[in-house]
Amino acid sequence: MAGIYLHIPFCKKKCFYCDFYVSLALRHKAAFIEKLKKELKYRKKFLNKETVQTIYFGGGTPSVLSGNEISDIIAVIYEHFSVAQKPEITLEANPDDLSKEYLKELKTTKINRLSIGIQSFFDDDLKLMNRRHTAKEAYDCVVNAKSAGFLNITGDLIYGLPKMDGEKWQKNLTIFSQLEIPHLSAYHLTYEQGTVFYKFRKNGKILEIGEENSEEQFRLLRKFAQANGYEHYEISNFAKPGYYSQHNSAYWQEKKYLGLGPSAHSYNGSQRIKNSALLKEYLNCEAKDLTQEIENLSKKDKYNEYIITSLRTIWGVSTKKITQSYGIHFTEKFYKNIRKYIDTGHIVRECDKFSLTEKGLFISDKITEDLYLI
Ligand SMILES: C[S@@+](CC[C@H](N)C(=O)[O-])C[C@H]1O[C@@H](n2cnc3c(N)ncnc32)[C@H](O)[C@@H]1O
Ligand code: SF4
Repeated sequence: MAGIYLHIPFCKKKCFYCDFYVSLALRHKAAFIEKLKKELKYRKKFLNKETVQTIYFGGGTPSVLSGNEISDIIAVIYEHFSVAQKPEITLEANPDDLSKEYLKELKTTKINRLSIGIQSFFDDDLKLMNRRHTAKEAYDCVVNAKSAGFLNITGDLIYGLPKMDGEKWQKNLTIFSQLEIPHLSAYHLTYEQGTVFYKFRKNGKILEIGEENSEEQFRLLRKFAQANGYEHYEISNFAKPGYYSQHNSAYWQEKKYLGLGPSAHSYNGSQRIKNSALLKEYLNCEAKDLTQEIENLSKKDKYNEYIITSLRTIWGVSTKKITQSYGIHFTEKFYKNIRKYIDTGHIVRECDKFSLTEKGLFISDKITEDLYLI
């Protein structure tokens, strides 16, 4: 089973925290779609006839595409790839695009999962982040999406925002649960170099919240998940039973995927392939020249990726898998490096599986960095 990721690089406005590759030049949308379809045809052999179980329209803002444009792209995928009987087909959408009319249009396509960028149910936060929508629009679009028949919905929220405290974060979570959205992606704000927030923090225009406040908000998130029947299955992801993101789970389980569009990555089991990031380059070069970087992954690279991704999930790291895929030498190194975290209660062992405890989740970046083999 494999996945296809389509990067739709357009946004109507740039959010102040975001460092994803996006372009505001929506006038190139039609040319972009034509190139994307060409790229799909050109790279049809990449997945080696493996069945496509998931298709993901990510961005950028895929909800700038019309229903017809989405259906056209999906038709090209069905024409050139072998698609599973019941694939998961996700569209990332911004609340202000999800009007009742647009939702109706989407219902005529094969999209069966919506990922909605809510971020916050407070207007002051949304304004601070330079989001295009209001809190009311964020709320209403979920209600309307459900009425339109979209039951598989995930919402993005950001916590750890400037001036945010536990109480405000809790209110966001409460509204989220009132809407009965079955999947949540909750990200702690990170200050990425080159973003407006990064500049604001540097010149004192905004203040980063303290570590204690951050930890409290993460604790509230875990408590909320437990109380409302969400499984915390990956560090930023929470799902009601049956609503895991199949697409992202496949990334974490090292399945093959084909990534199309500017800055998209692909993985075929031994190589990571990266497309040119600039829209201009993407539009101007031939489909055969789109790939910019090919990285041949050594055993050590693959081991490192396995540790980084698995440790972030509830499935954890399996030493049986390390031995089978990379050799006993790597298992021995893993045992040697992990011991101290077991002693300190950051990692728990269950048979051959090693995973983070709640205490470990707080310092997951430090632990994975430490386990990384150079
Ligand atoms: C690529 S964005 C696409 C979603 C869609 N374009 C939107 O804005 O609604 C995926 C998600 O990553 C999160 N995100 C992006 N940059 C972030 C940052 N610096 N800190 C925390 N979360 C971030 C946001 O929650 C965002 O919805
Ligand atoms: S968060 Fe989404 S809408 Fe905002 S700039 Fe990034 S990709 Fe575009």
